[in-house]
Amino acid sequence: MEKFIIRGGKPLRGEVAIGGAKNAVVAILPAALLANDKCVIRNIPCISDVAMDIDIIRDIGGAVRLIDRHTLEIDPSGLRDVEVPYELARSMRASYYFLGVLLTKFRHALVSHPGGCNFGDRPMDQHIKCFNALGATCELVKGAYDMSAERLLGTQIYFDKVTVGATINAMLSSVCAEGLTILENAAREPHVVDLANFLNTMGAHIIGAGTDVIKIRGVPQSSLCGVDYTIIPDQIEAGTYMVAAAATRGDVTVTGVIPKHLESITMKLRDVGAKVIEDNEHESVRVIGSDKPYRSTSCITLPHPGFPTDMQPQFTALLTMASGVSMLSEGVFDTRFRYVDELRRLGANIKVDGKTAIITGVERLTSAPTRALDLRAGAALMIAGLCAEGVTEIEEIHHIERGYEDMEVKLRGLGADIKKINRPDKVAAANVV
Ligand code: EPZ
Repeated sequence: MEKFIIRGGKPLRGEVAIGGAKNAVVAILPAALLANDKCVIRNIPCISDVAMDIDIIRDIGGAVRLIDRHTLEIDPSGLRDVEVPYELARSMRASYYFLGVLLTKFRHALVSHPGGCNFGDRPMDQHIKCFNALGATCELVKGAYDMSAERLLGTQIYFDKVTVGATINAMLSSVCAEGLTILENAAREPHVVDLANFLNTMGAHIIGAGTDVIKIRGVPQSSLCGVDYTIIPDQIEAGTYMVAAAATRGDVTVTGVIPKHLESITMKLRDVGAKVIEDNEHESVRVIGSDKPYRSTSCITLPHPGFPTDMQPQFTALLTMASGVSMLSEGVFDTRFRYVDELRRLGANIKVDGKTAIITGVERLTSAPTRALDLRAGAALMIAGLCAEGVTEIEEIHHIERGYEDMEVKLRGLGADIKKINRPDKVAAANVV
């Protein structure tokens, strides 16, 4: 089993290039199948969720050609199947986007209930609500959604909860519907905007993405043409390295970013006492750690532009070493604190009360064997391990590799003592240089 071995205590220093946004690319790759010709997609991160998407696209008849490590050509001309293989679909969350794409493309889709990070209740009711509102029937057959529609008719949809996935699926399934579809209480994340921009580049008519009201005027499928498109930078990968820089009291510049997407993270890092310098002209943000203990703070995760839920575990890791008591509330998911027990192994003093973690800062963390329970939980352990005294091991790193490209390589480039090994013995741990 592969694991990371980290010898903590070294401040991160230098520059790190940020890759394309995971949560944008997992929507845009399926969406490329709606084009009537090939699409070239650039700035694609090398992560396992992308590999999963490629497998699904190929399995249903699409062709995917690797132009280089971060550029793919998608050819939808061979698309023939409406059924996504059950095991592939259940291995990730974003397989749900094939529901919207195949419904638009073939008026029929058969995709299993999605998998993905396991933190609390993650229903699909808002997705189904959209599909039904547009005129599709949806039946759950042996764990898979079997959907079909004679016609897809534009309509008005009000989301009961702000949901990224359902907002994106609503755009994917209404882009060629007859007439106007209006989405209200829509998600405003940068990756929602990136998908809308991608579809509009293909020839769709979507306005309002990035606000809570999105209007989609349906266009004929034949008018969606193949395009050459570049994915936006990943705000969560960038935020993760920003928090790691502050936590290790280092000096790191994240490059190839959109500083505006990082504003809520920047503000919270400044809140606790880190220095953050935004450079819009050079598309970079520099984080300089404090040599004094960080101030405690309170924070609630909210849909964009609030503090991202996907940064909650990483920020908690930093707060475990702040002075005083911090409060961090999860405002998006019903529970996202399973990882806290793994941080406790490193000496963190955290009490979870419902949707709030009460974090009492400790002088220092100490190393221990740990395991990543999900993608961002793994990132939090990475940050804690970089700060802890001694050698920390992180198992189950496949979770981390779902959303972070070459994390150990990028961290080594910033001066971290980290190795990825696939030997289970203790000897390897002692060999960290
Ligand atoms: C997307 O998940 C992201 N995943 C998640 O990122 C991210 O945490 C989440 O959005 C919130 O930003 C992808 O984009 C692949 P939601 P998603 O629908 O779409 C409730 C990561 O770390 N809800 O925005 O599943 C839901 O339970 C991953 O990169 C319903 O009630 O999240 C939650 O409380 C983890 N009914 C809230 O809405 C529904 O039909 C937000 O969920 C759908 C969602």
